[in-house]
Amino acid sequence: NYICHMIYVTRRERFNAAHKLWRPDWSDEMNKEVYGKCANKNWHGHNYDLFVTVKGEIDSETGYVVDLKLLSRLVKSEIIDIIDHRNINLDVPFMLGKIASTENLAVGIWNILNPIIDTTFDCKLHSIKIYETENNFAEYFGK
Ligand code: NI
Repeated sequence: NYICHMIYVTRRERFNAAHKLWRPDWSDEMNKEVYGKCANKNWHGHNYDLFVTVKGEIDSETGYVVDLKLLSRLVKSEIIDIIDHRNINLDVPFMLGKIASTENLAVGIWNILNPIIDTTFDCKLHSIKIYETENNFAEYFGK
């Protein structure tokens, strides 16, 4: 009489960080044309919202897919502590050498969290979604 329920649950964490979108191999004009305000030489910040969605079955004992307190703790120690109040271009090891776009952030965060969630919890990472502004966000599903 066992019924499988695949459920998706999401934890939001917030961070703020500085960045600029800039290719050193492009001219100033080209950078400004492509990246607009985000190309400002002396940096600027965003208040990012990070949504970590996992999928799994409901544990019949707890009623949970995952204890979101524990997922939050993991996201804080692995990501937020590394990126919050930092400069994404200069201070964040997993972004070094990459364009500090929301897309690249989403992939970088996936690559860190996916193997840890796999071995720590009885659920799978489903997506990483990051809002850079309330109108612009990127979402990554691991492929
Ligand atoms: Ni920006």
